[in-house]
Amino acid sequence: MNSIDTETYKVHFNAKAYEELNLYINNYDFSKIFILVDTNTHKYCLPKLMSHLETPISIEIIEINAGEHFKTIDTCVGVWNVLSELGADRKSLLLNLGGGVVTDLGGFVASTFKRGIKYINIPTSLLAMVDASVGGKTGVDLGVLKNQIGVINSGDIVLVDTSYLDSLPQNHLKSGLAEMLKHGLIKDRAYFETLTQLSNLTLNDLDNLIHESIRIKKHIVTEDPTENGIRKHLNFGHTLGHAIESYFLESEEKKELLHGEAIAIGMVLECYLSSELLDFPKDDLNFITDAIHSIYKSVDFNEMDYKPIIELLKYDKKNEHGNVNFVLLKTIGQPKIDCLVPNDLIIDAFNFYNEKTNRTNS
Ligand code: GLY
Repeated sequence: MNSIDTETYKVHFNAKAYEELNLYINNYDFSKIFILVDTNTHKYCLPKLMSHLETPISIEIIEINAGEHFKTIDTCVGVWNVLSELGADRKSLLLNLGGGVVTDLGGFVASTFKRGIKYINIPTSLLAMVDASVGGKTGVDLGVLKNQIGVINSGDIVLVDTSYLDSLPQNHLKSGLAEMLKHGLIKDRAYFETLTQLSNLTLNDLDNLIHESIRIKKHIVTEDPTENGIRKHLNFGHTLGHAIESYFLESEEKKELLHGEAIAIGMVLECYLSSELLDFPKDDLNFITDAIHSIYKSVDFNEMDYKPIIELLKYDKKNEHGNVNFVLLKTIGQPKIDCLVPNDLIIDAFNFYNEKTNRTNS
């Protein structure tokens, strides 16, 4: 599969990716290599990476706990301390082997340690392959508030080996699929339709689709690396999706939602808002909602949930001058940024989601 090149980094795929990684490592004068893993990728993915690495440079492994709850500045302090104790210097390289938590957090640790060391992302989840590890967004959560602390700084290479997905459960694959569906909705109707026709995700289906998603994201990020304009399109579904994800993270009664599961709900809600505010076609609203309901488990919202979720919108990173700025769709493939939405309409959107859920379940 062809590599995807940008001015700042390259994305390499499968077997070629390890050749490129070894070339890169051996062309630089690195003092040490550190590999950041979590408890899962330590067990399931590190042996494969180690079997491909060909270098005389000494390698140290740093492990963090797995899960969104550990995407914190405290975890960063732990990693910075270990780097320091193990003698990392500015010529050290950090390889981030994991899902979005490891690649976001590792990218941030590398970007700030001694004012910045080089890093490479090796995503092992579908979500990280198609979104988190590409485009240089790094950072951690602030309490339950998603990705509030961070910097934009790309590693030199992203290495996508889709065989890491073998060890991933279906619900994690579907979580990544949500970001791919989003790529279709903001850029390419035919791509969205192809994705909705996959009943069970297999690795064969995924290879080309992952490449396509990264290509779509690359075009957007290359045009607007620091998110002043069209990069905001990638936030479609995320304004409400992030608020829902945070709400579920902080709630003791609610079961935690994976990022993509929350974004899938956010996309239904924001398609509804688009139909009310931008005349987004009703047929497409129903088509998208049915497609998402057929892929993801439905979530029950009740009236008590709406206010705290709306309250969380004030922390969205796209907000300016006290306004909550939504990305909505005029049509599939035609997003509009900086849309203001009255709270009543958000409640209507939740009611629409609930009605559709009940109809699907009955
Ligand atoms: N995850 C959205 C972006 O990278 O801009």
